[in-house]
Amino acid sequence: MIELQKVKKCYGERTVLDIESLHIGAGEIAAFAGANGSGKTTLLRLLSGVEKASEGKITIPAEILYMPQQCYAFRGNLIKNITLGSGDKAAAMRLLEALELSALAEKPASSLSGGELQRLALCRLLARECKVLLLDEPTSACDARGEQLVMQAVREYQKAHSCTVLMTTHSPVIAAQGCDRLVILNSGNIEADGVPREVLMHPETAWAKSFIARWKIEC
Ligand SMILES: Nc1ncnc2c1ncn2[C@@H]1O[C@H](COP(=O)(O)OP(=O)(O)OP(=O)(O)O)[C@@H](O)[C@H]1O
Ligand SMILES: [Mg+2]
Repeated sequence: MIELQKVKKCYGERTVLDIESLHIGAGEIAAFAGANGSGKTTLLRLLSGVEKASEGKITIPAEILYMPQQCYAFRGNLIKNITLGSGDKAAAMRLLEALELSALAEKPASSLSGGELQRLALCRLLARECKVLLLDEPTSACDARGEQLVMQAVREYQKAHSCTVLMTTHSPVIAAQGCDRLVILNSGNIEADGVPREVLMHPETAWAKSFIARWKIEC
């Protein structure tokens, strides 16, 4: 369904992403974790088509929805931000309810807090159909409840549309419980890849072991 073969992204002399081979099956929810600068956003930018790979081949369906790491809102209230003038208002309200934003539905989006804005950006995406959902740190501004709501909404959407979901995260909770698969990036390379429980309990390399140990302390 999604396939990367010998994909590299370079900026000048520097290679920031170097993936020999990666296959994500249809319907999978895959999380990508790794330190700041490890290449998570770069990977999603390549998959979304916002940027081109320097080398290699990427195969991905055309129907993609992409939530960038920096969320934004349009002028107008929350409902308008979801319908963008032509969408289904009732469906927009259902999404706002699911993300616990319905009390703010008529408020200007510019007045939202960071966590609220992030949940609104997700609502805007989930009001549309796609085959692949790309979410760059969709819970980075959320509290524990927000994180739970986001993951619940993503799972429901995935079931309803049978789509594939790729998300990046720094959250140990999402990595451990929210996804079917966990891929850990280290300086642009895949360091670990598998069922989250297996990756977390039995890291294969010394680097993965120390990365995961630091993560567990943080939770
Ligand atoms: N346009 C660019 N020009 C030069 N270097 C870049 C550019 N975009 C990204 N990089 C570099 O590529 C590396 C990977 O960046 P990327 O944004 O993919 O990291 P990330 O894993 O998403 O990090 P974070 O957890 O902070 O979001 C970083 O070291 C960054 O400085
Ligand atoms: Mg990033």
